[in-house]
Amino acid sequence: MSKLVLESGFEFDYENLFGEGKVEKSEVDALSAEIESAAKAIETMRETGVIRGHLSKDGDPELVFFSKLPYLTEDGINTPSRIKALQAWGEDTKEFDAVVSLGIGGSFLGNKVLFDIMGGEFWNYKTKEERNGFPEFYFSGNNLDSTRTTDLINLLKAKAAAKPGYKIMLVVISKSGSTIETMSNYFVISKELKEAGIEVGVTAVTDLREDEKETLLHKIAVKENWPIFSVPDGVGGRFSIFSEVGLITAAAIGFDIDAFLKGARDMDAACKTSDVFENPALLNAVLKYIASENHGRNIEVLMPYSDNLKSTSEWYIQLLAESLGKKFDRNQDVANYGRTPIVAVGTTDMHAQTQQHQEGALDKVVQFIEIKKWDDDKVISNPYKEFEALEKFDGLNMSECLKAALDSNSEALASDGRYTSSYVIPELNAYYLGQTLYMLALSIAYEGELADVDAFDQPGVEAYKKILGPKLKIIKDAK
Ligand code: PA5
Repeated sequence: MSKLVLESGFEFDYENLFGEGKVEKSEVDALSAEIESAAKAIETMRETGVIRGHLSKDGDPELVFFSKLPYLTEDGINTPSRIKALQAWGEDTKEFDAVVSLGIGGSFLGNKVLFDIMGGEFWNYKTKEERNGFPEFYFSGNNLDSTRTTDLINLLKAKAAAKPGYKIMLVVISKSGSTIETMSNYFVISKELKEAGIEVGVTAVTDLREDEKETLLHKIAVKENWPIFSVPDGVGGRFSIFSEVGLITAAAIGFDIDAFLKGARDMDAACKTSDVFENPALLNAVLKYIASENHGRNIEVLMPYSDNLKSTSEWYIQLLAESLGKKFDRNQDVANYGRTPIVAVGTTDMHAQTQQHQEGALDKVVQFIEIKKWDDDKVISNPYKEFEALEKFDGLNMSECLKAALDSNSEALASDGRYTSSYVIPELNAYYLGQTLYMLALSIAYEGELADVDAFDQPGVEAYKKILGPKLKIIKDAK
């Protein structure tokens, strides 16, 4: 059985990805020098922040600090006092009725993950007491869709009309401080709410520098005297869920920040060995790298069996796509590296995507996330005993059926040479979420080394931005 089980209970089951007819031991052995040097490179990153060849957007050498985020030290990035300040902000924000978090990309996706795990789809339908005093929570700023923005404004106005004194906190999150989606939604929403006589507070999360590169959001926040939290230096958006960027959402809804960071920390400790079969992040990277390079499996499906983990799969899209989708390797040779990420949810997508996974091109690794123990598990009771087809799940728990469905899907895919793996967590909570996300992030860092691409830049997103700026100017000048 090919399975790596950590002391915490986290399991990486790679039975259907490794072995005869799949990624073979000889292929891993053939890569041993590269694996060794990837392990060393990430150890260096942990100790010094140095990643060979990594440059900032401005072309300057830049250190990489995401692996420091799980550790709370006074000279670190997440300091005990900053976390306390965030939690105090969360307590103070209880006086508000609603929070609207505005951000996009790395300033949104991680926040959505934390919200979904803690709040879930029906958070805003609960009473404030049921939410332990925490406010309603909405997202905006992750598109330029005026219909949704209008709908959100109308909803908030209606709520304020129904409850005199209704107060709204807008949390504006942007590292660069001038992103069009985030700032335009902030301007529109803030103006309309204020014009409707609604009390609006604002908190900014941005780069804290005050030199010539001070962000516009920081300038505005200082001018307006808003509370300000930090997007730390050396932490790219897709790794920022472990920083104040993601943790502000945790603070706003009472998510257990300490357990989340401890999960990440324990995963980091488990990934310090250079023994590839003992290090889940390294093993995960190595198997998928070989599956892609040697076997053409260059599409990655992340398929958690849980509705509330769908946004984790969406978060992973950015992590994989921005980190590994690179035209050039670190020698500036054309590599056109990377894999296409696909979001799926079990069992939902077994009724949609599975046909393609099962019979389409042999180009995928389907990764499952399995939760072992479910709270509030429901027993299915069939009142129509005369119908045999409905009798087969009568008396079973929903979680037993879910697990059977996952196992059946995995078995069916494996029976036809389809590659799958599973990340298995004992239960879905802050700790195991921290473990899972950190393992995925570290795995991407290892793969950047194996593929010799810079996993921490995203030059490809600048191409359209260079076209968009002048286009907006033309539209404006023509008005
Ligand atoms: O990962 C990234 O760097 C991007 O996805 C950014 O997070 C996204 O473009 C938003 O940028 P900003 O935080 O500067 O508003």
